[in-house]
Amino acid sequence: MSNSPFLSSCTSETIRDAAKALKAGHLVAFPTETVYGLGADARNPVAVKRIYEVKGRPSDHPLIIHISSINQMQKWTSEVPDYAISLARTFWPGPLTLILKRSDLVQDFISGGQDTVGLRVPSDSVALALISEFESISDSAIAAPSANRFGQVSPTSSQDVQDELGLYLSNVDSILDGGTSRIGIESTIVDCTNQHPIILRSGFITKEDIESTLGIDEVQLKSTSAIKFSGSFEKHYAPKCRVILESLEGENSGFFALSDIPTPPGMTRLGSPSSVDEFARRLYSTFRIADHQGFKILVVIPPKGSGLAMAINDRLEKASRGR
Ligand code: TXA
Ligand code: MG
Repeated sequence: MSNSPFLSSCTSETIRDAAKALKAGHLVAFPTETVYGLGADARNPVAVKRIYEVKGRPSDHPLIIHISSINQMQKWTSEVPDYAISLARTFWPGPLTLILKRSDLVQDFISGGQDTVGLRVPSDSVALALISEFESISDSAIAAPSANRFGQVSPTSSQDVQDELGLYLSNVDSILDGGTSRIGIESTIVDCTNQHPIILRSGFITKEDIESTLGIDEVQLKSTSAIKFSGSFEKHYAPKCRVILESLEGENSGFFALSDIPTPPGMTRLGSPSSVDEFARRLYSTFRIADHQGFKILVVIPPKGSGLAMAINDRLEKASRGR
């Protein structure tokens, strides 16, 4: 199929055009600080249906609505506990998604039939400009999952989006190029529909960050057994090659670890991040590189510790369970 989507660099003009394209019901993939998203008008059922088709994602998996500021929160929600407002004030714009009781504006085609909605204000300047522009011409906001096929690795560059979805997008859709994602793993998701917050997906904003903001001792982390929650399918986050989390002697495999860990004999080093942040930023692109170079096995030595290291370990554990 020669229906490739239009790839454009980000200028105020291409962002304005992208907002108009969203209004016309087309899809726009855009950069965020976590991973690239595949956006559509959150109030247009036909456009949103196309997100599910392009991703090959089951329709009962809810989408996050991306808004431009905390001022837009009320429009999409019916109930916001005080602790959710504190989290939004502290971490927005940023890599945090809040799950809240939805307003009537949020229809079943976004929420997968649940009575809740996920909201996020990303901090990436292109994302924010696109969302603001779209809000100003549409009285809506941008629904967007990560811009990868269902169960595959999230994209952290416009080229990754092209590789993942190029075949499935059409020439009225577009991809905005905003360079490499600064954080590299998906947002932290916090369920704010109960008396106390529950972390559904770990990320750059850590359990400790949330606890210290709210002055709470132990914020609960829910295991990913409920299928509506992100990454709960075992095959999520896995590249095609087998991911192994310890060194195997004598294997001709790819190797990814912090820079102070030496490369075992016979392995090919695919990266030496010097910090946990850099580890997160490069993790998914290393999965892609390992597949691209045809490795059957990728050995990854997980960083130790809490915080972001925990979010990385969560992804790695799932990746190591394979497809
Ligand atoms: O960093 C991110 O969050 C990226 C960027 C593009 O914003 N988005 C992202 O979207 O990772 P997605 O759809 O790939 O993952 C979001 C997960 C989904 O798997 C979904 O199950 C969960 O969030 N989710 C969304 N709305 C929800 C809701 N109302 N209740 C429970 N889980 C929800
Ligand atoms: Mg995803």
